[in-house]
Amino acid sequence: MNKETLTITDNRTGKQYEIPVEDGTIRAMDLRQIKTSDDDFGLMSYDPAFTNTASCKSRITFIDGDKGILRYRGYPIEQLAERSTYLEVAYLILHGELPAAAEFEEWTWEITHHTLIHEQIKKFMDGVRYDAHPMGLLIGTVGALSTFYPEAKNIFDAEKRSKQVHRLIAKMPTIAAFAYRHSVGMPYAYPDNDLSYTGNFLNMMFKTTEVKYKPDPVLERALDVLFILHADHEQNCSTSAMRGIGSSQADPYSAVAGAAAALYGPLHGGANEAVLRMLNEISSKANVPAYIKRVKEGEVRLMGFGHRVYKNYDPRARIIKQIADQVFAVTGSNPVLEIALELERIALEDEYFVSRKLYPNVDFYSGIIYQAMGFPVDMFPVLFAIPRTSGWMAQWVEMLNDPDQKIARPRQIYLGYEEREYKP
Ligand code: SDX
Repeated sequence: MNKETLTITDNRTGKQYEIPVEDGTIRAMDLRQIKTSDDDFGLMSYDPAFTNTASCKSRITFIDGDKGILRYRGYPIEQLAERSTYLEVAYLILHGELPAAAEFEEWTWEITHHTLIHEQIKKFMDGVRYDAHPMGLLIGTVGALSTFYPEAKNIFDAEKRSKQVHRLIAKMPTIAAFAYRHSVGMPYAYPDNDLSYTGNFLNMMFKTTEVKYKPDPVLERALDVLFILHADHEQNCSTSAMRGIGSSQADPYSAVAGAAAALYGPLHGGANEAVLRMLNEISSKANVPAYIKRVKEGEVRLMGFGHRVYKNYDPRARIIKQIADQVFAVTGSNPVLEIALELERIALEDEYFVSRKLYPNVDFYSGIIYQAMGFPVDMFPVLFAIPRTSGWMAQWVEMLNDPDQKIARPRQIYLGYEEREYKP
């Protein structure tokens, strides 16, 4: 029977080592015994950007990049998108099981009754320029929230921890909407507890002088499905930031602020905004071939394409494309859609993209829908951060409860100067 081990021969010394293989991995620390002399530090693994390094053991989200599979706690994303709601999926991601009716009722009550933010937070938000990018304002405001809830530092008190989970999931839409209203010079629209999670968010975003905002049910449902699709995605850049900051035992507001900062980058959650800017720059279907040429010459990237894990069509992009038709039936089509479809058509048959396994990812079509729904382009990364908050919180809690985990502190390969004498 084959043993679950590796036998390594160090050709520098002729020594052999047997290293256990567990869950398809070896423990990097098992390499340290491989030395050329007693005072040798021992071998390390070098993995810039962690392209082949498992940072943790997790039971939350499973992705098979080759097969284009995405499951939250074992449930296929296609079934959740079709039959669940964002709040139910957030409960599933955090608790590991779908809620029973009574559990879901309590969960929904908790989230609904934590949507208000302290009135002083408005002063903090009013302090930034009117044209501040809402994502920058969201990051700053979430960080500032930590000063309103000092009890959040008791991260090993499960009761206090779950209260911060409720507060963050509930308050992200409020902060996001307030950031938008600030940027367009509109008065803040307060939460309406009669509405659903996404219905209330649309209310806080777009309510004007009417006494009670009535969200369009098709757009409300479309946004809810988009939130389900963005809820978690295993160890992506922003979740790794959440886990890294959380590993020093910082409070969850500071960790979420850092995770949102990582998400803001155009290679990550900022890609949905970059896609729209790219489509507007291309401006017509006729200009697509010229843009593709610039991509193939390495001058620009095809934003919304490619993924570190998916080497097949991102299953979320496929679902988002289906939602587009439902939204456009209400809002009218988005003229940039035909540019996006032409980009996809050419890219899926062009050797440059096929050989690099570049397919549309979650960000390629989401922005087109957001724009048709009336969201300005700079709100798009914020629309990613809102739903991802439940994933960040679930991964954070899992990290705190994992006996394998401690403060994250990688090593390095030092290539700098050897010791040298200081001369004034
Ligand atoms: C998200 O990790 C997650 O799960 C993230 C996310 C989540 O839910 O949390 O799924 C959300 O961030 C989706 C990705 C959104 N980003 C973009 O759409 C930006 C454009 N995409 C790329 O920058 C890129 O594809 C990444 C960042 C997504 C992935 O980068 P990798 O895995 O580091 O791949 P790479 O940069 O090493 O590229 C491999 C090759 C290179 O070509 P060669 O050097 O081999 O010639 O593919 C090329 C790259 O130049 N390439 C692209 C490309 N993406 C990769 N060429 C043109 N356009 C692109 N979009």
